[in-house]
Amino acid sequence: MRGVSEESRLGPDLTHVGSRLYLGAGLLPNDNDGLARWLAHTQQLKPGARMPSSHERIDDNSLQAIAAWLAQLK
Ligand code: HEM
Repeated sequence: MRGVSEESRLGPDLTHVGSRLYLGAGLLPNDNDGLARWLAHTQQLKPGARMPSSHERIDDNSLQAIAAWLAQLK
């Protein structure tokens, strides 16, 4: 199973997210900073995206760590 089950339409498959050049269909460069900004400010960057912004729930250090982990998923 690749992160989410086949039947689930909750979010995209992020198995190889680190191999892509851009996030959110070209909104942001796909590097550590871009990933961290996407996670923190999702709704500001892409209003109405079916993913919540995380800055009020997850502290900056943790968001940076998650971004670094996602970036190495090649
Ligand atoms: C800390 C937790 C989360 C992480 C690390 C994460 C990671 C990501 C990343 C990296 C993308 C961009 C993918 C791309 O550009 O193709 C994305 C998009 C998305 N995520 Fe999340 N996500 C999180 C929480 C959530 C939650 C809680 C939901 C659902 C309730 C969700 C649903 C989605 C959806 C629907 C998209 C596509 C958004 C769009 O382009 O309109 N995510 N997520």
